[in-house]
Amino acid sequence: MGIADTPFLNACYRRNTGRLPVWVMRQAGRYLPEYQAVRENVSFQELCRSPELITRVVTQPLERFGFDAAILFSDILTMLEPMGARVTFPEGGPQISNPVRSADDVKAMRRITPETDLPFVLDGIREIKRHLPETPLIGFAGSPFTLSCYLIEGAGSKAFNLPKRFLFAEPEASEALFDLLVDCLSQYLRAQVEAGANAVQLFESWGGVLSYSAFQRWVVDPVTRIFESLEGANVPRILFVNNAAPYLDLVREVPCEVVGVDFRLPLRTAMDALPDKAIQGNLDPSLLFAGPKAVRNGTLEMLDSVTDLDRLIVNLGHGIQPETPIESVAAFVDTAHAYRCKS
Ligand code: CP3
Repeated sequence: MGIADTPFLNACYRRNTGRLPVWVMRQAGRYLPEYQAVRENVSFQELCRSPELITRVVTQPLERFGFDAAILFSDILTMLEPMGARVTFPEGGPQISNPVRSADDVKAMRRITPETDLPFVLDGIREIKRHLPETPLIGFAGSPFTLSCYLIEGAGSKAFNLPKRFLFAEPEASEALFDLLVDCLSQYLRAQVEAGANAVQLFESWGGVLSYSAFQRWVVDPVTRIFESLEGANVPRILFVNNAAPYLDLVREVPCEVVGVDFRLPLRTAMDALPDKAIQGNLDPSLLFAGPKAVRNGTLEMLDSVTDLDRLIVNLGHGIQPETPIESVAAFVDTAHAYRCKS
């Protein structure tokens, strides 16, 4: 079976007649004891800079659960470091010590050259592909809006009021910032594909704080430019949108093959609203805390709710949380795999 004929890649192109592909966002991470064992000896940022350790933690969840795709191990904020952001990852979540607060701060940011600025990411991809040539590998990056949230706020937030104020009050500087992010992200994702990524995913984690019209301007327009730049790269383009419900008709116009949706939305609603996309999602990650039986029932209920299984990629509706019981993850994967076990 060539890599193009795997359940995951077939589902991306809406032509999967085999078993349902499953992977979960943040599948390499702290819920796994073997990941924690690696992290005992290195910091998160050291881990992200070692192609050998990247490959090890990417492989861990595949061996344990038999996921149908691997995802690069890195962070959405990694690309911001060579652009000039000073990023750290303390316990409570990422911090940027020199946030962008003015037009001059935007001007001071650098355009990246992926091969020289982020060689460990691309070497990591090449190393993963050497070890896992038969497994589809997803490269990824943060969307321009989600990255601007961290750049401007300097940390995580619920409402991201500072970034929203900046967009409204400094439209010219914001345009310049987004132009730079679109340019860097286009280069970065293209380089990931050239290094061997078989699909790319943009994480729109925080676009859900925007009004409908702001979502068009600061999410759909820049993401469209990035994805258009990848036309001809011959890999499926996935857009994950957290809190997607209000914007589904806008998302439909984005040039991508797959839309990942959060757990708030009935899967059926996403399938109906996006008939020409493959859909990725969307079990509530918190359900996994209720144990294998609840996971099995919830997964069956989700799968029974839709009919277009040829274009479904089974996933959680956001990243898996630390302390998630391992048996629940296994129940999730096994239930989806057994649901349609052809080939
Ligand atoms: O298997 C994988 O998916 C791992 C690769 C990955 C990481 N971060 C590793 C990571 C991916 C795809 C991400 C994406 C990411 N990072 C997003 C988008 C996804 C989403 O959740 O919406 C966001 C918003 C971030 C920013 C970020 N990085 C946060 C908020 C945090 C702290 C919260 C947390 O989960 O710890 C990080 C740190 C981070 N990124 C960790 C990992 C494994 C934990 C670091 C550790 O080992 O201590």
